[in-house]
Amino acid sequence: MRILSGIQPSGTIHIGNYFGMMKPAMELSKKGEAYLFIADYHALTVLPEPEKLRGRIRNVAVDFIACGLTEETVFFRQSDVRCIPELTWILSCVTPMGLLERCHGYKDKLAHGLSPNHGLFAYPVLMAADILIYKSNIVPVGKDQKQHVEVARDIAQRFNNKYGEILVLPEPQIREDAALVPGTDGQKMSKTYGNTIELFGNEKELKKKFMSIVTDCKTLEEPKDPETCPVFTLYKLFAANDQIEVMAANYRKGGYGYGHAKKELFDVFWEYFRPFRTRREELLKDMGYVDAFLRRGAEKANETAEKTMKQIRESIGL
Ligand code: ADP
Ligand code: TRP
Repeated sequence: MRILSGIQPSGTIHIGNYFGMMKPAMELSKKGEAYLFIADYHALTVLPEPEKLRGRIRNVAVDFIACGLTEETVFFRQSDVRCIPELTWILSCVTPMGLLERCHGYKDKLAHGLSPNHGLFAYPVLMAADILIYKSNIVPVGKDQKQHVEVARDIAQRFNNKYGEILVLPEPQIREDAALVPGTDGQKMSKTYGNTIELFGNEKELKKKFMSIVTDCKTLEEPKDPETCPVFTLYKLFAANDQIEVMAANYRKGGYGYGHAKKELFDVFWEYFRPFRTRREELLKDMGYVDAFLRRGAEKANETAEKTMKQIRESIGL
C-alpha cells in the first residue's frame, strides 16, 4: 500500500498541518510505503517571492523531519521530480473545465482576495499528477483537500477510460478528530488566512497567539459551552481524556474564564512539542542530514515516477 501526501511551503508549519496531515501520515506510514513531499510548485500560486520561497522550503523540511519522520519515508521536494509538470499537462487534456470550476479551494482563495491566476485554477490537476504518478492508494489530508483528492480520482478514471487501466484510483483519508483545526479567529487554520499557530517559535510570541484566540464575550462567572469554543477544540488535540473531561466540566459549571482555558491550552501545547523542539535544534546544526534526506527521497520518487511516465507516454502515443 502506498500512502502519499504533500504540504505547501507557503508559510510555517502550523497546528492544523500537524494534526490534519503530518501526524496521520506518519502513523499510516507504519502500515505501508509513505511518500511525503514539499509542494513547492503549488506554493508558486501564492508565493512569487524567490528568497522567501527558498527559506520556507528549507524550514518545512527541517520542521517535518523534526516531527518524527523516519528514514524509511520517501521525503522530497515536488520540484525535484521534473516529470510532474509533464504529467500535469497530459492530465489537463482529460480534465473537463467544469470539474475545476466546481472546486471549493479555488473559490475560497478568490473570496480571500487572492488574484485568480491560471495556476490557482489548475492547482487540482497538478495535485492529481502528484498523486497519480506514484500510483498512490491512500492520501491522508485535512478536510479542505478532500475534494481535490476526489478530483484526482475522477481524472484517473477518465484517463483510464481513454487510454487503458494504467492509473490507480486514490482514496482520501480524513481523520475526523482533526478534520478542521480552527485558527486564532475560529475559522480553518490556514497559512493563507493569517490565523495560524506555528509548531515552533518563540515561547512568548506563541503564548500571545494562544491568548488572542477569539471567544464569545461571556463573563468569568457564566457557564460556557465547550463544544462551540475553539480553545476547547484545540485543547482536545493535545490533552489526555481525563484532562479534557475536567476542562469541559469547568466550562459548564462557570467561574472558569477563557483566560484560564487558554493558559492550560498553551501548557499542554508546549509540553507536547518539547521533544520535537529539541530534535529541531539538532537538525538546524546539521543541515547536511536534511539535504541528504531530501536527496534520497528525490531519487526514489523519480524512479517510481519514471516507471509510470513510461507507461503513460506509450499509452497516449508519444
Ligand atoms: P494551509 O491551508 O495552511 O496552506 P496546506 O494547504 O499546505 O496548509 O495544507 C497541508 C495539509 O494540512 C493538508 O493536508 C491540509 O488539509 C492540512 N491542513 C491545513 N490546515 C488544516 C486545518 N486547519 N485543519 C486540518 N488540516 C489542515
Ligand atoms: N494541495 C495540498 C494542500 O494545500 C498540498 C498537496 C499538493 C497535496 N499535492 C498534494 C496533498 C498531493 C496531497 C496529495 O494542502
